[in-house]
Amino acid sequence: EKGGFWSFMAKEIADQPKAVADTLLGRTNESGDLILDDARIDEATLRTIDKIIVVACGTAAYAGHVAKYAIEHWCRIPVEIELAHEFRYRDPIVTPRTLVVAISQSGETMDTLMAVRHAQEQGAKVIAIVNTHGSTIPRESDAVLYTHAGPEVAVASTKAFVSQITAAYILGLYFAQLRGNMFRDEIHTVLDELRAMPDKIQEVLDRGERVREIARWMADTSSVLFLGRHVGFPIALEGALKLKELAYIHAEGFAAGELKHGPIALIEPGQPVFVIVPSPRGRDSLHSKVISNIQEIRARGARTLVIAEDGDEAVTPFADEVFWVPQCPTLLSPLVTVVPLQIFAAELSRAKGLDVDQPRNLAKSVTVE
Ligand code: BG6
Repeated sequence: EKGGFWSFMAKEIADQPKAVADTLLGRTNESGDLILDDARIDEATLRTIDKIIVVACGTAAYAGHVAKYAIEHWCRIPVEIELAHEFRYRDPIVTPRTLVVAISQSGETMDTLMAVRHAQEQGAKVIAIVNTHGSTIPRESDAVLYTHAGPEVAVASTKAFVSQITAAYILGLYFAQLRGNMFRDEIHTVLDELRAMPDKIQEVLDRGERVREIARWMADTSSVLFLGRHVGFPIALEGALKLKELAYIHAEGFAAGELKHGPIALIEPGQPVFVIVPSPRGRDSLHSKVISNIQEIRARGARTLVIAEDGDEAVTPFADEVFWVPQCPTLLSPLVTVVPLQIFAAELSRAKGLDVDQPRNLAKSVTVE
C-alpha cells in the first residue's frame, strides 16, 4: 500500500498535490462563493467573533502559525496561536466572541481535545480542522472543516500539514466573505491561486532529486539551522521539526530577523543553514533583509542552503545551494517552500538507515496528556 514508494513518508510527500486539491474541492457554489456546509455555527454568531485562537500541537500548530499571517491580513481579526497544552493551563482570555480553531490530523490528540473542552467551558465556539472522520475532536466541536489528505500513516506529518494550511485559508476567506473584509473578486482570485498550488507543489516534487542528493552528502551532519521570515518563519520551524523527528539531528528554526539578537553566535565555519527567501515580488524590504541575512551568515562561514523563487537571481551569489520553487503569492508560498525541507529530512533519515515512518519515541496520535 506504499504504492511503490520506499516508505509511507515518501508516498505521503508525493501525495501532497492531491491532498491540497481534494481539500479545496466542493467548497464553492455555482457563483464561486464559499459555502461551508460543515460549519454548523450560524452566521450571526460568526459575525460577532472578535478574536481567533488556534490550538494545536506539533506540525498542526505550525499550520496555524502560517494561517495567522493570512487570516489577519484578509479578515483583520486578531489570531493567536497557542500550543494546546499551554492554552489549557494558563488563564486564557476566552469569551463567547472568541472562535477557537482546533487543528489536528488525528482528531484524537488529548492535549488538543482538552483545550477544546476548556474553551467551550468558557463559552467559546470551536471549529475543528481535522483529517480523520468520526474522531473525537470534531465530534465535540461546534463545527468541522475536514482536510481531505487521506489516511496519513507515517508518524511525522506532511500531507496533513499542507491540507491544514489549505483548510485554514478556506476558513479565513469564508470569514472575509461573511464579514465583507474583501471584495468578492479578490476572494475568487485567491481561491483560483490556491487551485493553482497543486501543480506548483508537483513541480517542486519533480525537482526533488537535487534535494535528495544534498541530504545524502550531509548524512553525518550534527546540527542544522533554519531561517525564515513572515510565512517563512513557521516553515523554518517545521523544517527543523521534521529533521529532529525523522533524522534525530539537532535542528532549530529562527525568525531571520532574530539572527542578530542571538542565533548568529551559533554560526561557525561549515554550519549548514537553510534560508527560506520571501518572493522578491512581495514586500521588497522583506526580500532584501533576508538576502542580507544570507550574506551575514555566509561571511561567518555558514553553508547556505537557500529556498528561493524561480528567477530570484539575487540569491545566487550567496548561496552554496539553491532549491528553486515556482513563483506564487507570498501567503501561499508555504505550500511549496515546505516541500524541499520534508524531502531533505526524509532522505537524510533514509541515508542514516533510520525508520522514517516510525521514528523512535514518537506516536502518530498521542492520546495521553
Ligand atoms: C505528534 C505527531 O505526536 O502529534 C506529529 O508526531 C503531530 O506529527 C502532532 O503533528 C499533532 O498530532 P495531530 O494528530 O493532533 O495533528
